[in-house]
Amino acid sequence: MPIQTTSKIWHNGNLIPWEQATLHVMSHVIHYGSSVFEGVRCYGQPQGSAVFRLPEHMQRLLDSAKIYRMVVPFALDELCAAVVDVIEANGVSPCYIRPIVLRGYGEIGVSPKGSPIEVYIANFPWGKYIAGHGGADVCISSWNRLAPNTMPALAKAGANYMNSQLIHMEAEVNGYQEGIGLDVNGLVSEGSGENIFIVRNGVLYTPPLANSALSGITRDSVLTIARHLGLTVTEQALPRELLYIADEVFFTGTAAEVSPIRSIDRIVIGDGNPGEITKQIADEFFGIVNGLKPDRFGWLTPVKVPAHEPVTA
Ligand SMILES: Cc1ncc(COP(=O)(O)O)c(C=O)c1O
Repeated sequence: MPIQTTSKIWHNGNLIPWEQATLHVMSHVIHYGSSVFEGVRCYGQPQGSAVFRLPEHMQRLLDSAKIYRMVVPFALDELCAAVVDVIEANGVSPCYIRPIVLRGYGEIGVSPKGSPIEVYIANFPWGKYIAGHGGADVCISSWNRLAPNTMPALAKAGANYMNSQLIHMEAEVNGYQEGIGLDVNGLVSEGSGENIFIVRNGVLYTPPLANSALSGITRDSVLTIARHLGLTVTEQALPRELLYIADEVFFTGTAAEVSPIRSIDRIVIGDGNPGEITKQIADEFFGIVNGLKPDRFGWLTPVKVPAHEPVTA
């Protein structure tokens, strides 16, 4: 879906016109992938709009920057306030928010020390990421996720998404909606842009972060919701074949939200319909983000923008 432009983008403390948020082709980030970023959602609610888990996302942005020795000249509360400012300035809700920290125009060598840190925050409408109401048809990718101690999987870095692109493109050309990456040892890791959960015999499983998975904010939310619902939850290494014999499988992510999986490598999961536990978790998740259930975990930051109908992909 093409990007729907808005009026302003936040850049290093100022709101600038969307069209002026440009970079020189010789910027460090273009050549060496030196960026870290976030994806955040703002939801429409009966009383207005609210950003989901804003401080957690901006803290992960700072953590990603720290791993790459990028010194961000803004504190956590300033970054959170900047997100609220840009949403309110553009008056667009629901929306997706894309904060990015990058190394800009300075020197051409690999060493980033002469290239300035730039911080941008954009927001724009974005609907469903994983299509398919009854669940997605996905495959196991022939590409593995990032090996430990190569590209740090806990940093949400632009460069990591070259791996995600390989996984996603391979899935698409073969007629699937998404691909699942295994880690370097062949254990389940995550989707190209989502964490993954399995339900078997009433127990909820997800791979631990050591299997090259991103520390997903939605993953954490689902773990919290599941515990609140009284489910047994375990973070443990999962062999590939457990996916095929699971009763339920679903993806989680800011873009994907809670997305049931209907088949993997053309093997039907359960009876091919979203399972009961997936539905229970999704009901609670969407209830909270849409303001129809209490914000019992304190996950919402209100913004002063009336919500319009969501744009769907
Ligand atoms: C590789 C990858 N894993 C997992 C996720 C899910 O993370 P979150 O729930 O924080 O969006 C994302 C999306 O950000 C991702 O790109």
